[in-house]
Amino acid sequence: MYVRHLQVTDFRSWEHADLAFEPGVSVLVGRNGQGKTNLVEALGYVATLGSHRVATDAPLIRHGAPRAVVRTAVVNDGRELLVELEITPGKANRARINRGPVPRPRDVLGILRTVLFAPEDLALVRGDPGERRRFLDELLTTRAPRYAGVRSDYERVLKQRGALLKSVRAARNADISTLDVWDGHLARHGAELLAARLDLVADIAPHVAAAYAEVAPESRPARIAYRSSLGEAFPYQVAGSAGGAHDRDVLEDALLAELHRVRPQELERGVCLVGPHRDDLDLALGELPAKGYASHGESWSFALALRLGGYELLRVEGAEPVLVLDDVFAELDRGRRRQLAKVAAGAEQVLITAAVAEDVPGELDGLRFDVRHGEVHRV
Ligand SMILES: Nc1ncnc2c1ncn2[C@@H]1O[C@H](COP(=O)(O)OP(=O)(O)O)[C@@H](O)[C@H]1O
Ligand SMILES: [Mg+2]
Repeated sequence: MYVRHLQVTDFRSWEHADLAFEPGVSVLVGRNGQGKTNLVEALGYVATLGSHRVATDAPLIRHGAPRAVVRTAVVNDGRELLVELEITPGKANRARINRGPVPRPRDVLGILRTVLFAPEDLALVRGDPGERRRFLDELLTTRAPRYAGVRSDYERVLKQRGALLKSVRAARNADISTLDVWDGHLARHGAELLAARLDLVADIAPHVAAAYAEVAPESRPARIAYRSSLGEAFPYQVAGSAGGAHDRDVLEDALLAELHRVRPQELERGVCLVGPHRDDLDLALGELPAKGYASHGESWSFALALRLGGYELLRVEGAEPVLVLDDVFAELDRGRRRQLAKVAAGAEQVLITAAVAEDVPGELDGLRFDVRHGEVHRV
């Protein structure tokens, strides 16, 4: 798939920008702060309905403007679709496909698939578990857009059950029978999300290990494994051992039993202690965890391997995503640069941002855009 056209209005620093792309390599070149990342962030928003830099929509709207609009034409297997999103903070976004309104913004998910590698990705290795859960869930949604619904159902149940726990805690003698009902909801939606994450980790693990071995051949082997908050109650021997077929019913029963077991602690603390919102993705180099042990270079390589692993998984499953490399070449040493360039050169489309053109390896020759003073020009 490739992006043929991108147009933004009042998105971040851009009052207006209009870019025509082609398959292959496109490089956006401009000094820091000129708005390069803002442009690829707009594409990321179409792909995920979120930003890789901020958790809320407000910063995406140009300062002083009421709303932002992102419009993009995406070609997949020769078929072109036009996606338009109107982002208004504090209100529901509006979406159109081929100029026709769709009921929910998430109906656009799946039209554009991207894999973005950016400096922020160091947090995948060094940051807290929420970063890695987001990595898994975004990839899951890119792989199968219906998981956007599963995620939001789970989030909703989690919030309501959390509120219930807090209110029960506040009023000591409150009726807790409704908690059973919410345990059931949490276990059901949680099991669906958990099974999908486990399948994903089983499927992506070999790609991540292979990508790491390529970008850092001198380092110890990289391994990833899912860490469930079920602990001892986790019904599989090793996460991923079911070889990409984790049973939702088995996981639902395990979640229910564990919720029952930890209920006294939950009532005492007023928080949900079990479920996919408490899980993590363990990253290891040889016998040691990456977090706290890996060097800066190894951490970078691991973050890159996670992204490239995701890219490779989507590619072999038949929906090659657009690869977006935001300001990353300057951060990589020669060897890693060359490895990344090798993968990128084979991509159907890769969009690259860089402060200076010399940072981009020579084999990634293609369209070039200059980004300066709020304008973007093809050169
Ligand atoms: N909502 C916004 N309204 C106006 N300007 C913004 C907004 N969000 C970010 N900016 C500006 O965008 C610039 C950063 O753009 P960015 O795309 O990150 O630059 P780079 O070219 O270095 O990737 C900064 O000058 C920042 O002040
Ligand atoms: Mg940038």
